[in-house]
Amino acid sequence: MGRSGDFLDHFWMPFTDNSAFRESPRLIARAGGIRYETDDGRSILDAMCGLMCSPAGHGRPEIAEAVHRQLLTLSFAPAFQHAHPDAFVLAERLCGLMPDGLDHVFFTNSGSESVETALKMALLYHHRRGETQRTRFVGRERSYHGVNFGGMSVGGIAPNRDGFGVGLPGVVHMRHTLLPDVHFQRGQPPHGAELADDLERFCNSLGGDNIAACIVEPVAGSTGVLVPPVGYLERLREICDAHGILLIFDEVITGFGRLAENFGAQRFGVTPDLLATAKGLTNGVIPMGAVVASERVHAAITGGREGVEFYHGYTYSGHPVACAAAIATLEIFEREGLVARARELEDHFLDAVFSLAELPVVTDVRGIGMMAAVDLAPLDAPGARGLQMIQELWDAGVLVKFTGDTFLMGPALTIDATEIDEIVGRIREVLKRCA
Ligand SMILES: Cc1ncc(COP(=O)(O)O)c(C=O)c1O
Repeated sequence: MGRSGDFLDHFWMPFTDNSAFRESPRLIARAGGIRYETDDGRSILDAMCGLMCSPAGHGRPEIAEAVHRQLLTLSFAPAFQHAHPDAFVLAERLCGLMPDGLDHVFFTNSGSESVETALKMALLYHHRRGETQRTRFVGRERSYHGVNFGGMSVGGIAPNRDGFGVGLPGVVHMRHTLLPDVHFQRGQPPHGAELADDLERFCNSLGGDNIAACIVEPVAGSTGVLVPPVGYLERLREICDAHGILLIFDEVITGFGRLAENFGAQRFGVTPDLLATAKGLTNGVIPMGAVVASERVHAAITGGREGVEFYHGYTYSGHPVACAAAIATLEIFEREGLVARARELEDHFLDAVFSLAELPVVTDVRGIGMMAAVDLAPLDAPGARGLQMIQELWDAGVLVKFTGDTFLMGPALTIDATEIDEIVGRIREVLKRCA
């Protein structure tokens, strides 16, 4: 389709400084493997596999073919009171990747919808068991759970809530786990598990039997890869169990091999009652998310009822084309052993990212598995360094994701050691020039 002179005026971009973008557009036209190609033909190394949503790399023909076949066979089927077989096939396969005990899959279309769905499941679980007073949620500072009202409310990012009213009532936030005395920590900080006792304090002050669920990202991704201290998640699980509170893991980023295990739950050996996922499920090709529920939660909501058990769902829940993309993605994961590959690459990846610590502009580095964050010394205004660096790194042919003055890296799990070195080498050259 042709472009008019003002074609940039009409797409209202999400989470973007739209006017600055129009001054200096960064347009991506093509992709393959770990590389993007810009509109004007330059090659960009993608250190983020999209928004950490394409762990099998860009442009996989196996997924494209599966989607194409599905579009010609069955491009839509209603999921309310009807279904198509592949939704069941996919649900079973997804459960095979879960820790024991997470067995029931509810499909959504995004991470934000997965979070809303999990929160509603938690409320309904207690309601159906007669504990109707359990309506509070506990979230955590510096957590990101998407942009819908529930996720925004339990999320811990002030600008994401600013201007949108009070959000869900009764939500409280634990402190985040970025410890002031821990810097350049690779993997889990050795101390800080006691921060989980914030949940116990809320139980004391608000009544543990008023709390429906506690929701955390096993590793907070979007706010800068905050890795949980050793013992922290275990402690949250204990407190939840002691008070009958459900534990929700938001694994929208940490799923599908990002932490060198299928999910964060396995990496840390802690099983939640509800696990929210999305992104890597379809390799980012078709929007899709899922919530995987424990038998206990599923049974309490559906057991012994006649008629519709859960008044919730989306027109596109379990969309046949998304299912086809997801099945093809999971086949690639299995065939190429991408989780084992992440395990093999983890040390090299973290060595490379942590080597940036020697640069004067770098004030902290954190990382685990195949995700890492680098904090840069701020300029006069917070975030100004980040905005400057987005452009400079783009000009140098690297795409990372900035959150304020911190950038994130989470490449495709198909990357190799040489490509990791190339990405970090280009970043180093740009950061070296920083005053
Ligand atoms: C942990 C987490 N939860 C939820 C979301 C929201 O996902 P979506 O943008 O697909 O709605 C994200 C997105 O980055 C995320 O990282």
